[in-house]
Amino acid sequence: MAMIQINNLTKRYRDLTAVEDLNLTIEKGDVFGFIGPNGAGKTTTIKVLATLLEPSTGQAYVDGVDVVRNPLEVRRLIGYMPDFFGVYDDVKVWEYLDFFAAAYKIPTNKRKGIIDDVLELTDLTGKRESYVEGLSRGMKQRLCLAKTLVHDPKVLLLDEPASGLDPRARIEFRALLKELQAMGKTIFVSSHILPELADFCNVVGIMERGHLVVAGSVNDIVQRLEGAIVLDARLTGDPENGARALQLLNGYPEIKEARAEGNHVTIDFTGTHEQLPQLLSHLVTNGIPVASFSQREADLEDVFMKVTKGIVQ
Ligand SMILES: Nc1ncnc2c1ncn2[C@@H]1O[C@H](COP(=O)(O)OP(=O)(O)OP(=O)(O)O)[C@@H](O)[C@H]1O
Ligand SMILES: [Mg+2]
Repeated sequence: MAMIQINNLTKRYRDLTAVEDLNLTIEKGDVFGFIGPNGAGKTTTIKVLATLLEPSTGQAYVDGVDVVRNPLEVRRLIGYMPDFFGVYDDVKVWEYLDFFAAAYKIPTNKRKGIIDDVLELTDLTGKRESYVEGLSRGMKQRLCLAKTLVHDPKVLLLDEPASGLDPRARIEFRALLKELQAMGKTIFVSSHILPELADFCNVVGIMERGHLVVAGSVNDIVQRLEGAIVLDARLTGDPENGARALQLLNGYPEIKEARAEGNHVTIDFTGTHEQLPQLLSHLVTNGIPVASFSQREADLEDVFMKVTKGIVQ
C-alpha cells in the first residue's frame, strides 16, 4: 500500500468546505509538494494526516494505518511540523528535544544519542545549551524539524517549513530536506510557491479552494498546461542549417511547430520526455550539426498562476 493514501476526503468547518473530495496517493520515498494559495486547504489536509482533525467524510491512511481509527499508531509513524512555532520560555534546546523524546517514550539512556544525532543533522550542535527563545527564526525552524525527527518517523508532514526564512536559510533548509529524502523518509511539504519546491519534489499537487486542481511530476504538469515541450536546439556551421533542420522536422511525428532564426531552432514537441533522445538522434543522423539540445525552463510562476486563479476564500 502507498505510504499516504487519501480517499474522497472532505472537511467542513460549519458551512465552509475547506477540502472537498480530495484523493491523493503518495508512495514510499516520495517528496510531495503540496502547493496552493492562502485558504486552499493545505493546513487542513495536513492536520487530518497528523490526526489533529477528523475528516467530515472520507478516509486517510499513513502506511496503511487509518488516521481516525488508530491515531496513536499514526503518530508514531509521522513527524509533524506545524505552520506556527509555539513559544517556550526558559527551555534549552536540548531540554526541548528531550521533552519530545520523553513524550515519545524513548528510554532515557537512548535519548542523549538521539538528541546529538538530530542536532547534528539540523546543524544545531553548537546551540545545544542555548535557550529556545533566543534562537533566530531559521534556527527555530530547524529545531522544530529536529523535534519531528526524534522518534525516527517514516513520514514527515511539514507545513510551510521555509516560510519567513531568508534566501540562504531557505537553500540550507532545502538541503536538509534532501538529506532526509536520502535517508528514505517520505516527505509531505506544503508551500505557497511552486518554484520553491519544484526542484526537489518528485511529485507536486496544486490545491485551490479545497480542490486538487492538478497533481503529478512538475514536468508532466508543465507539459499538460503548455501543451508541448519547448526545445531549444543550437546548431553549428552554416546558418542555413536551421532551415534544413526545419525541413527535416516537417515530416517528424509529434512536432506541433518548429521555428528557426539562423542556427537557433525552437521546437514545440507534443511527444513524451522518453521520445526526446530519438528526436535528437533523428536530427544528428540526418546531418544536422546539433551543438546543444535542451528543454526550455518553464516559468513555474506562470504555470502556477495559470492553475490557480488566486481567489481567496
Ligand atoms: N478552525 C477553523 N474554523 C473555521 N474555518 C477554518 C478553520 N481552519 C481553517 N478554516 C478555513 O478553511 C479554509 C482552508 O484553510 P487552511 O488553513 O487549510 O488553508 P491553507 O491552504 O493552509 O492556507 P494558508 O496558505 O493561508 O496557510 C480557509 O478558508 C480557512 O478560513
Ligand atoms: Mg496553512
